[in-house]
Amino acid sequence: MLLPWALLLSLLAQHAVFASPPTKRFYDSHHYYVLEHDPSTGVSLTDVARVLGVQVVEQAGELVNHWLVRVEKPESDLSPRGEIFDRVLDTYNRLRSDKRRSNAVASSVRYLARQTLRQRAKRAPPPIGPPPEWTSQAVADRLGIQDPLFTQQWHLVNDEQPEHCMNATGVWEMGLTGKGIISSLVDDGLDYTSEDLKDNFDADDSYDFNDHEPLPTPKLSDDHHGTRCAGQVAAGKNNACGVGLAYDSKVAGVRILSGPISDVDEAASLNYGFQNVSIYSCSWGPPDNGKSMEGPGYLIKKAVVNGISNGRAGKGSIYVFASGNGAAHGDQCNFDGYTNSIYSVTVSAVDHKGLHPYYSEPCAANMIVAYSSGSGKSITTTDKGQNACASTHGGTSAAAPNAVGVFALALEARPDLTWRDIQHLCVLNARRINEDDPDWEATALPDRSYSYKYGFGVLDAYRYIQAAIDWQLVKPQVWFHTKTIQLEGGVMPEFEEYSGGQFIGEGGVSSTMSITQEMVTENNLEKLEHINVKVWIQHGKRGDVEVELMSPTGIKSILAGKRTGDNANTGYPGWTFMSVKHWGENPVGDWTIKVSDQSSATHNGSFLGWNMVFWGSAIDPSKATLYEVPHDDADTVLPPPDAPHPSPTMSAATSTKQYAKPTAHLPGDHGDAPGENTNVTFPGQEDTTVPSASPSPTSSSTPTADEGWFSDMSNLLKSQAWFFGAVGAVAIFGIAAGIYFWRRRILPLRNYSTLPEGDVLPMSSVRSGRLNGGGRTKELYDAFGEVSEDDDDDADEQTRLRVGYPDEPRGRPSQYRDDPEVGAPSRAGGAASPDEGSPSDGSWEHAS
Ligand SMILES: *[C@@H]1O[C@H](CO)[C@@H](O)[C@H](O)[C@H]1NC(C)=O
Ligand SMILES: *[C@@H]1O[C@H](CO)[C@@H](O)[C@H](O)[C@H]1NC(C)=O
Ligand SMILES: *[C@@H]1O[C@H](CO)[C@@H](O)[C@H](O)[C@H]1NC(C)=O
Ligand SMILES: *[C@@H]1O[C@H](CO)[C@@H](O)[C@H](O)[C@H]1NC(C)=O
Repeated sequence: MLLPWALLLSLLAQHAVFASPPTKRFYDSHHYYVLEHDPSTGVSLTDVARVLGVQVVEQAGELVNHWLVRVEKPESDLSPRGEIFDRVLDTYNRLRSDKRRSNAVASSVRYLARQTLRQRAKRAPPPIGPPPEWTSQAVADRLGIQDPLFTQQWHLVNDEQPEHCMNATGVWEMGLTGKGIISSLVDDGLDYTSEDLKDNFDADDSYDFNDHEPLPTPKLSDDHHGTRCAGQVAAGKNNACGVGLAYDSKVAGVRILSGPISDVDEAASLNYGFQNVSIYSCSWGPPDNGKSMEGPGYLIKKAVVNGISNGRAGKGSIYVFASGNGAAHGDQCNFDGYTNSIYSVTVSAVDHKGLHPYYSEPCAANMIVAYSSGSGKSITTTDKGQNACASTHGGTSAAAPNAVGVFALALEARPDLTWRDIQHLCVLNARRINEDDPDWEATALPDRSYSYKYGFGVLDAYRYIQAAIDWQLVKPQVWFHTKTIQLEGGVMPEFEEYSGGQFIGEGGVSSTMSITQEMVTENNLEKLEHINVKVWIQHGKRGDVEVELMSPTGIKSILAGKRTGDNANTGYPGWTFMSVKHWGENPVGDWTIKVSDQSSATHNGSFLGWNMVFWGSAIDPSKATLYEVPHDDADTVLPPPDAPHPSPTMSAATSTKQYAKPTAHLPGDHGDAPGENTNVTFPGQEDTTVPSASPSPTSSSTPTADEGWFSDMSNLLKSQAWFFGAVGAVAIFGIAAGIYFWRRRILPLRNYSTLPEGDVLPMSSVRSGRLNGGGRTKELYDAFGEVSEDDDDDADEQTRLRVGYPDEPRGRPSQYRDDPEVGAPSRAGGAASPDEGSPSDGSWEHAS
């Protein structure tokens, strides 16, 4: 019995030895080695250790027959000959190489290696929060912000994705909070009784153009859009909701979206208080349904140019426009004459993860993006009501006011910035986002790339204001209007009347114009900023047309992409596109436009003519003059009369319809469509039936007499390939826009003069007569506020788009959200709870 006990005890003892924790290492004083010992050779570990002169420490972890051994560090690791020398390894190597006496010790050691200390890099996940001093709570504590919802305002401090916010807190800490700056919210009502807004409300510069009253009181159940946008800009630092980006700035409210409005009132609204107001925040526009092409009428264009030239004591009003929410319909902001204007800072959206939300419209007129709803999070801001907060605000409607807030901060630091300085600072300081997005393309400016989705990138308040502080003001604006190229005698004297033009066959039609250094110098143009391209295109289906422009240095602007839902047959009667993608380029050389279509058997068309305007800074400031809007009639006929002034940026065109449906809710999480950030906006040839490799039909456009300075047409052949993809899309876009505007121009009298009681009636009575004239306002509102209701109802976009309004007679009565099928119950109902989001009332906030 004793024997088993002894055995057991010895096993236990051994086990205890192995289970003991590792002994402490002394790397400072010892060299450590791992030695693999083969006991089967008959040489004991003790003998090996003795021969090598090492001390056995313990088994190497759980590796059987592997031993940690050590020696005291010698005084020097160098041999007498000055080489790095390890006595243990040297001994081992000598034993192994001793062929004469095949060494038993050496053969019992299978492995011997010195241990060195290495630092392993942690594979820790990247930090998910901001550094401790930049959490929303820390910022609130430091700045004494007590607003209860501040920590939910991720667009101000994003605790989960710290880089994705407007980044204004550092600006606040510089003492800049918008003091002395007034922004005007041209919108629906603005609740000036709100605890969050009343101290920052500027009544003097406010007005209600819907009901013609001094104050923009919200009255309709859904009159909360303006209040929410205002809160983003100037919600006070107090105990209500959150704060605005410029929380010590002032906001005025100009109410135009709560009912019908005439051009004269819309024009007045965009100049209201324009000596005191710096920035006009406009989160509205023509319908975002992918079928309309519409822009401001003559009076409105004049008002905007007036604001640019004379507002803010000549420094120019700053117009900030939301790009639109129609991307899911294939809509593009170049079909909207407001966002398409050189005078607007056009703002698209990115969400709290920095992703492109499915609704945000791309186009070559996009200047920047700002944060808004998407990927499950929306904007938290003030709401209508004494102490009401909204947490479902979003869409490009909410992106624009975030840019307004940043500009208000910049203007406090630099009140002398002109409207163009504001734009230059955007172009040069926007932060690139979603690096992998295939839309990014290089521009002529160093380190500046451009994306149809993101413009030059996201507006970062800190970067923007830092740059603004040292900014040197740009020289005055000049422009250079090219002659008009008529293709094969193309003429369009009146809407829907045309003759000549080059048939758009497979491969599209290209046309090139050459710009010489003399033209540039003669026109006093030093550095290029915006460009306009005006096109006359006749087509059986506007949505099939694509238009693309290639600059002399090979920078391409896709001006119009295919719009599946746009069935208008009215073409592009002098529609003006705008691109900011050529900012900073040298305009000298050949500019080539390509117009193509889908080569459909049923719809065809022809390209009649085009021209360009180059806008930029003056070589000689003393020779710069102020731009004047040409009379409307001169704007869209081909050939244009020899007007003393270039065609206006906001080209008039008629719309194919006057349809505005109530907007619907965006999906609860505001969407996170797969592929949004990995797909190019304009897939080009993939979308056309024309193989890109096929030789393009020669741009056989015959230059007319007045285009003698045109470049040799043979150049066109060279550029065929790039044309295929984009031209079709651009042309469609342009055609749609042209038609839209053209009709608008023709229709106004019909639309507005038929109001039953005439102009002198209070607008409230007009509301009930909205079948005649009411469409306009709602259209504008819906366009930018949210995705329209039918977006939601029809899961299938194709179905939705097939409901073809474009070809309906002009002046079709507009539908508003109070239409029965839309289900908005009461116009005068109480305030909608911000979060309840019933389809009938709160739909705006979901995307707006
Ligand atoms: C945001 O602002 C801080 C200063 O407050 C600045 O250091 C940082 O670079 C900015 N963030 C980005 C992404 O530019
Ligand atoms: C605009 O500002 C001027 C001077 O700064 C002031 O006299 C005027 O009353 C202001 N007008 C309005 C409408 O606020
Ligand atoms: C263009 O379309 C019209 C109307 O569909 C048709 O009559 C005409 O033959 C077409 N032209 C060509 C060249 O396909
Ligand atoms: C992105 O492209 C892929 C492949 O072309 C397509 O299947 C997908 O639907 C696209 N996604 C979006 C959002 O367009």
